Amino acid sequence: MSHLWSEFLSHQGRPAHKWAHYFPAYECHLARYVNRPCTLLEIGVAHGGSLQLWKRWLGPLARIVGVDIDPACKAAEEHQVEIRIGAQSDAAFLQSLSDEFGAFDVVLDDGSHQQADIAASFAHLYPRMARDGVYLVEDLHTAYWPEFGGGLRAPGSFIETCKALVDELNATWTRGAVPETAFTRETLSVHFYDSLVAFERGATPPRIAPQIPPVDIEALHQRDLP
Ligand SMILES: C[S@@+](CC[C@H](N)C(=O)[O-])C[C@H]1O[C@@H](n2cnc3c(N)ncnc32)[C@H](O)[C@@H]1O
Repeated sequence: MSHLWSEFLSHQGRPAHKWAHYFPAYECHLARYVNRPCTLLEIGVAHGGSLQLWKRWLGPLARIVGVDIDPACKAAEEHQVEIRIGAQSDAAFLQSLSDEFGAFDVVLDDGSHQQADIAASFAHLYPRMARDGVYLVEDLHTAYWPEFGGGLRAPGSFIETCKALVDELNATWTRGAVPETAFTRETLSVHFYDSLVAFERGATPPRIAPQIPPVDIEALHQRDLP
């Protein structure tokens, strides 16, 4: 299987804007979709290079959807790559995407990086994704910057939302302090990287510790071995 990093280095299509240190995280969370049917939504198209990169790496079965507020981005459409124009905070627009494309396997938020926009997209799209989907938010250094609605430990920062979601993931163990939610039941893990957070979806099993039968060591030793 080709590495996304190699694809990026040899990319000669439209310009793509990705930080080098994101690539191990992309590989970690998205490699399972290579050559599998999947629908990937990227919020933020710009020149369209990243959409081409996903198409090349994920292969012929992937359906790549790009969303941007700038109508000029429509020009980046090509085979396997569909682009819709709208604002990432517009619930009606996001619903039209779900209606048209069904449940997304992958959502990648590389849009305005305004904290309120990130939160609005996440609130709408995350519950509507495939049960085993992956949601990535990148460039979260902006969560620390007031001009993007963030700031260190600022209440509106998406990093602060993610910290609270860690408690929601573990709600079962908080003795009622944090109520269990759909997020608790439908999220397997939350991964923090430099400037990037990834949510892995999946129905969590009931929280029980399996009782392993006690092992009779003596009987094991006396067993007739072939
Ligand atoms: C960082 S660029 C995307 C880069 C692209 N994903 C790549 O990797 O090459 C951000 C894009 O988000 C778009 N954008 C800004 N605000 C938006 C909003 N509220 N909704 C949707 N797209 C938005 C901008 O027009 C811009 O094209």
